[in-house]
Amino acid sequence: MARVSLPPSGAPRPIDPPHDQEVSFLDTQTNAQTIARQFADLQGEMNRYVVGHEVVKRGLILGLVAREHIYIEGPPGMAKTMLAEIVSTAANLNFYLYQFHRDTRLAELVGDIVIERQPEGESGELIIQSIRKGGVLTAELCVLDDISRSPGEALNVLLRILNERQFQTEKIPLLTAIATSNPTVDDYYNEPLDPANLDRFTIQLRSSGLIQENKWSDVQKVIDLYSSQTFSEEITPEPILNRAVFDNAYEVLHKVVVPDIVKRALVDLLTRFVNQFKLDSTNSLITDRSFLVKTIKVLKAHALLEGRMQVMPQDLHALTFLTAFRVPEEIDRNMPNLIAETIQRVGE
Ligand SMILES: Nc1ncnc2c1ncn2[C@@H]1O[C@H](COP(=O)(O)OP(=O)(O)OP(=O)(O)O)[C@@H](O)[C@H]1O
Ligand SMILES: [Mg+2]
Repeated sequence: MARVSLPPSGAPRPIDPPHDQEVSFLDTQTNAQTIARQFADLQGEMNRYVVGHEVVKRGLILGLVAREHIYIEGPPGMAKTMLAEIVSTAANLNFYLYQFHRDTRLAELVGDIVIERQPEGESGELIIQSIRKGGVLTAELCVLDDISRSPGEALNVLLRILNERQFQTEKIPLLTAIATSNPTVDDYYNEPLDPANLDRFTIQLRSSGLIQENKWSDVQKVIDLYSSQTFSEEITPEPILNRAVFDNAYEVLHKVVVPDIVKRALVDLLTRFVNQFKLDSTNSLITDRSFLVKTIKVLKAHALLEGRMQVMPQDLHALTFLTAFRVPEEIDRNMPNLIAETIQRVGE
């Protein structure tokens, strides 16, 4: 009987398929490896222009595969907008970028307001206002740049549309929204998103500049890049993926297996959040939606990006892409250790 060949040493062994499903399992397994390569190429496109920021790059890819919304927070000039634009162009989806400002109105984001005057009837003139759909209502991928500059009224409605992927009674084609923001402290003149809005961004990324993070070898690379005589300031990413790749990835994502050990580990970690670290609604944003539902999708996406059709305990490290603004900062910083401990506990 043909067996699934073992991956190179170090890589996890694929699960054994039931006998009669072996051929389709092999197809899916090969498909998973293809998907992993396609999205690695997307990350490669970001690497061409942006040095460092591996966590942000990885979080972007993870969110795109899982079709979840992404929030990136970081100080000015660390290439947030640049990364979001590169990944969007390279993804080659129908893409919309909107730069928020203090007077943003919802109408600007959803298309054009059309005002029509109907012919005069017996009851007089009739003025009809409707929306010619555009912006976030017609895009497959949107970048919501500097989102925390937005006034609350526009934002609340917008984020509800994004969350439900629906406007009035109609589904919208949006796969992922990527929002960027400066840190919401007094000196940046912006308002923090309220917790209900923040929770709509499954993937949350906190980042900093290379200088602030003392990433001196990356600092050197940026200087070298901009010193190079062949370097052009024009950013022209290749459109390397397409909608079919995204649809295939999403279909395969749902077939990724989540074994019991991973489920136990997730419950173990959540139990520690509540019992040991006393995380509750006063100090954290531990919602059932994010940690019981979205997390599973993110774990599957994490496995898929490794070319696997099975989630492994080590995929729980993907939880670090969810916690940035959901748990207190010291716990977020300690997440890699907590996850490692959890993996060990359930493995014993
Ligand atoms: N890590 C990096 N690698 C390469 N170029 C970089 C990097 N960091 C910053 N730059 C350069 O600095 C510019 C600033 O990037 P960008 O405008 O995307 O920052 P931002 O984080 O969106 O800032 P703001 O919060 O002010 O909108 C980039 O266009 C790029 O030229
Ligand atoms: Mg920007």
